[in-house]
Amino acid sequence: MQTRVALVTGGIGGLGVAICRHLARSGHRVVAADLGTNRDRVDAFLAAVADTDGAIGFEAVDVADPEACTALAARIDASHGGVSVLVNAAGITRDTTLRKMSLAQWDDVLRVNLDGAFHMTRAVVDGMAARGFGRIVNVSSVNGQTGQFGQANYSAAKAGLHGFTMALAREVASKGVTVNSVSPGYCETALVMAVPETVRERIVAGIPVGRLGRPDEIARVVDFLCSPESAYITGANIPVNGGYYMSF
Ligand code: CAA
Repeated sequence: MQTRVALVTGGIGGLGVAICRHLARSGHRVVAADLGTNRDRVDAFLAAVADTDGAIGFEAVDVADPEACTALAARIDASHGGVSVLVNAAGITRDTTLRKMSLAQWDDVLRVNLDGAFHMTRAVVDGMAARGFGRIVNVSSVNGQTGQFGQANYSAAKAGLHGFTMALAREVASKGVTVNSVSPGYCETALVMAVPETVRERIVAGIPVGRLGRPDEIARVVDFLCSPESAYITGANIPVNGGYYMSF
């Protein structure tokens, strides 16, 4: 069987690296796509995944830029073949209360976290449908489900992302393409470590499991959804939050 190509946006970020590793372990040829502006960060990522025998590569992209997404999809198509698995994991925060939130803070978060998923998906979904197989996983957030103080922008984008998941899942189900969301809770990532310590401690105290999540604990769920055997799960949201938010 031909090796499936997996594209992970935010691929060198806190959750992205773990997702790339899990997808490589399950036999994918992985392209980690992320901003290439910080060369040290890219080099550190490449050094960290050097043990995967070339299964994980890097491509620079700004997911907020639709043309850059189209160009990236064309580059991967030419070099590795069409993308079978897309994980939209690129995400940023600009936390502040709405009364202080600037238009730029709103726009930055919406452009990356929500529009970015649209642009990247738009660039690869036709190929998936034509080949009769695709797996799309959108990394949403518990804060999209509950709302979070200081995150009107982020919560709106992450809730929007699951709406996007459900609508697209209906459109492409008959083409062998599944679309799902994974909603992580608070994990050991730079994004969460940037939350003021006192605020973070209060949040951790409210997590029944009693600790932050580990990126691997998110990545294994993403990898599970990307398997050909997960064909009957679509339009779903899988929360991985240590019990921080329970729903039916
Ligand atoms: N709930 C209720 N009240 C709160 C509060 C909270 N969580 N946080 C602050 N307040 C209160 C303050 O005590 C303050 O009250 P007073 O005016 O009476 O003094 C008032 O609200 C305003 O507080 P600030 O002036 O400090 O507000 P700010 O605009 O500077 O923003 C904040 C504060 C930056 C939003 C800070 O609360 C914060 O960082 N909160 C955490 C946000 C968070 O959880 N982000 C998640 C990042 S990780 C992630 O996003 C990954 C993921 O998917 C889980």
